[in-house]
Amino acid sequence: MLRAMSIMNLSEPSHGDIGGERKNLTPCTIVIFGASGDLTARKLIPALYQLFKEKQMPADFRVVGFARREKTDASWRQELRTALDQFSRTKPVDDKVWLAFAEKLFYCQGDLTDDVAYKKLETQLTTFGSAPLRENLLFYLAISPSQFGEVVEQIHRSGLLNKEGVGWQRIVVEKPFGHDLASAQALNRELTRYAHEQQVYRIDHYLGKETVQNILMFRFSNSIFERLWNRESVDHVQITVSEKIGVGDRGGYYEEAGALRDMVQNHMLQVLSLIAMEPPVSLEAEAVRDEKVKLLKSIRELTPADVARQVVRGQYFAGSVGGQMRPGYRQEVKVNPDSNVETYVALKLLIDNWRWSGVPFYLRTGKNLPMSASEVRIQFRPTPNVLFAAQCGSHLDANALTLRLQPNEGISLRFNGKVPGTTIGVRPVRMHFSYDAEFGAYTPEAYERLLLEAIAGDATLFIRRDEVETAWQIADAIRTGWDGKPLTNREFYAAGTWGPIAADDLLAQLGHTWHEPQVIK
Ligand SMILES: NC(=O)c1ccc[n+]([C@@H]2O[C@H](COP(=O)([O-])OP(=O)(O)OC[C@H]3O[C@@H](n4cnc5c(N)ncnc54)[C@H](OP(=O)(O)O)[C@@H]3O)[C@@H](O)[C@H]2O)c1
Repeated sequence: MLRAMSIMNLSEPSHGDIGGERKNLTPCTIVIFGASGDLTARKLIPALYQLFKEKQMPADFRVVGFARREKTDASWRQELRTALDQFSRTKPVDDKVWLAFAEKLFYCQGDLTDDVAYKKLETQLTTFGSAPLRENLLFYLAISPSQFGEVVEQIHRSGLLNKEGVGWQRIVVEKPFGHDLASAQALNRELTRYAHEQQVYRIDHYLGKETVQNILMFRFSNSIFERLWNRESVDHVQITVSEKIGVGDRGGYYEEAGALRDMVQNHMLQVLSLIAMEPPVSLEAEAVRDEKVKLLKSIRELTPADVARQVVRGQYFAGSVGGQMRPGYRQEVKVNPDSNVETYVALKLLIDNWRWSGVPFYLRTGKNLPMSASEVRIQFRPTPNVLFAAQCGSHLDANALTLRLQPNEGISLRFNGKVPGTTIGVRPVRMHFSYDAEFGAYTPEAYERLLLEAIAGDATLFIRRDEVETAWQIADAIRTGWDGKPLTNREFYAAGTWGPIAADDLLAQLGHTWHEPQVIK
């Protein structure tokens, strides 16, 4: 058991200090393709409402929803209000704020493949009168990636998307961004045929999370840790993204994706690149993204033989999670009863650069694990244990720094302390910083931040073309190593456990063990 120590609060920030600098936002129209879908109702509209409520939206804006189903402005607004009652971050919904917000929502019915529908959209925009509302356009593609190319071509043909025109136009695209390198490259070609790369904003909602953004702040604004952030001091790094849920009713999707595509290729490699990248020359989008790409490119390539040694797949069989029985993956709806799709991945990556040479980075993610948590653990090298060996045995715990990304966001430092008393006893203790305790429970949804950044034209939190392609190269190499090989017995795990035995074997190669995410209250 660790003893928790609290950090003394050295300055009490006023609430205004927390939000940081406000962006200068120009009036614009947000056009959502896929306006009758799940993402719009659950994430996009609640995020826009919240931004409006907090007076963070531009002084003037409109939202136009585009989808196939027949709706009027009034019926779309009514549906969104019902959804907002369920999904808003701040409940109850403020009626006065909602009414003012709803006046800015308009529905444009049409088929994405139909030229006439884009004429209708253009006409709708002209009714807004002011030039910025017609010319500054954020196109949010909340649709299937197979439809991206069509939409981009159509908005270009109808004159709504200009490469060098008046105002600004940006395209936000959702994951999944391809299912391998070839499909991602094809998507990139489609998107950039009629738009500059700088106009394309690829979302990874992980980057919208406060704690993920805090990784850079933490690393580069604190001198004590950054000088330890290298092979001299760090023994290894563990990144865990565990999910308590199984695949549920998403079996069909998961059969095509698997944990590698669903989690590792995007979220986990993003976190890894922020943890391990070199300091950028500035906080400009290109400077930050240059460093992230450089880091991804310095990850040692995996041959099929490396994959066999360094990557573990897993799949859950029936078991109990938190006292509730869960079926095995192969018994889930829309899952092939002989499926070899992985619901768990653990891997060891090596980074061939000056800072990290020889330091293993372990990543693991899985479904139906005992708890939902995302954290990064920096495990420092042990001290030479000469002084306390007689009293404490051969093993003295090494220091560890844990960045908890969710839930209970915070940072913990683990070190050794003397057990009070007349004898010399050493025990690990923990110093913990909790976001909620320090700043109050102010946790904006990732989509709020990302929408605001896209409106402001700051692409730092979005994935660049070369970033997404490099990440797919890494995932594809793993998939090639797995090709045609069925799961082995050591790769199955009972739902409710921390994954297959093979994942423990992986760390045991270098005498390491997995550290389970801490239960933090
Ligand atoms: N839902 C999430 O939480 C989530 C999270 C991450 C990423 N994503 C990604 O975001 C995208 C949208 O997801 P979703 O869950 O919102 O999907 P969804 O609920 O199936 O919605 C799809 C939307 O696309 C519209 N649409 C489809 N074909 C059309 C056509 N030919 N013409 C006009 N509109 C058309 C649909 O309109 P009609 O039904 O009116 O035809 C509907 O509004 C997907 O790429 C998904 O992978 C979703």
